[in-house]
Amino acid sequence: MAIERTFLMVKPDGVARGLVGDIISRFERKGLTLEQVRMVTIDEELARRHYAEHVDKGFFPELLSFITSGPAVAMAWSGESAVAVGRTLMGPTDPAVAPPGTIRGDYGTVVTQNLVHGSDSSDSATRELAIFFP
Ligand code: RTP
Ligand code: MG
Repeated sequence: MAIERTFLMVKPDGVARGLVGDIISRFERKGLTLEQVRMVTIDEELARRHYAEHVDKGFFPELLSFITSGPAVAMAWSGESAVAVGRTLMGPTDPAVAPPGTIRGDYGTVVTQNLVHGSDSSDSATRELAIFFP
């Protein structure tokens, strides 16, 4: 048993498509607890900090353009194994191969516009929560 906190975000495509309520509802129904939420339009500086591990990757320009394209919904969630539970509900990175029943599997087709972000470890959660909820 380990109560954790994780950082989850509805990306600009999820907000634009009106999926915020559905996505929040999935995490709530699973049993996680919403602790903090705010809308944020990510600028380049914030994107480079949040996705620091990816700034040198070939896909970063496309990721940067997408993640700064409109408002996102940043959230702090807590619960038993919240990091892993959040990732399980999101599904694999590429919606084209994400199974139905996951957020990415139900709503996406392309890897860039994959609807949600979730911390991939407890250390990432601590780092990301400090960025978005200082
Ligand atoms: P996220 O960080 O957004 O929760 O996604 P993730 O852990 O599942 O995937 P990650 O490897 O951290 O990649 C971050 C985001 O970069 C975009 N991406 N594009 N074109 C590509 O090959 C590619 N690979 C990754 C995706 O939007 C991914 O969510
Ligand atoms: Mg990631």
